[in-house]
Amino acid sequence: MQKPAPIDFPVHELVRNRWSPRAFADKAIPQDVLQSLFEAARWAPSSNNEQPWAFLVAAKNDKENFEKMLSVLVEFNANWAKNAFILAIAVSELSFAKNNTPNRNAQYDTGAATAWLSVEATARGLFVHQMAGFDPEKARQVFAIPAGWDAIAALAIGYPGDPDSLPQRLKERELAPRTRKPLSEFVMSGRWGNIAPFVSK
Ligand SMILES: Cc1cc2nc3c(=O)[nH]c(=O)nc-3n(C[C@H](O)[C@H](O)[C@H](O)COP(=O)(O)O)c2cc1C
Repeated sequence: MQKPAPIDFPVHELVRNRWSPRAFADKAIPQDVLQSLFEAARWAPSSNNEQPWAFLVAAKNDKENFEKMLSVLVEFNANWAKNAFILAIAVSELSFAKNNTPNRNAQYDTGAATAWLSVEATARGLFVHQMAGFDPEKARQVFAIPAGWDAIAALAIGYPGDPDSLPQRLKERELAPRTRKPLSEFVMSGRWGNIAPFVSK
């Protein structure tokens, strides 16, 4: 299902067409496509080129690993994410590897890597649904995430599915219009709260 953003200003079609579905098709993602998704993440910018991210990844056909992923998701998310071909967890290294001082942009950079991955996925007809609804400490135990690294977000990745495959309540959310704040609420200039002059249409 396509769900292009109802944009106020023109954007690239990849930006417009990315969205977060909960219905996923029962279709495997080829290995070379997976390689490209994480290659895109690799080329995200990061503070001091630290690349403070790692991804734990499980494919649906790797049953034991996939079940481990499902076990760390909150029930609401596990109920739909179980249909995605890939489940993953984005993890951040919280201190700079070179001098062990805090990296206050680690989560920001991990988000950038995930955004890069999401855009590459969109270009390949895939969709990424990120999730805060998981237990980071359980993820640490289940996947042996070391001290100094924190699980930040879970991801479901797959080809889009039929909204009719979802329970009624989720189907309604799947079909609901996409909404965003207008630029006038978050693009400022000069001082906090002043709308940037170029924003008005
Ligand atoms: C960090 C993050 C955490 C999210 N957590 C969840 C979640 O736990 N469950 C869920 O169903 N959607 C989750 N979402 C999806 C958002 O609800 C979704 O991105 C937002 O409503 C905008 O919709 P769109 O991505 O389709 O444009 C999350 C998204 C992000 C970026």
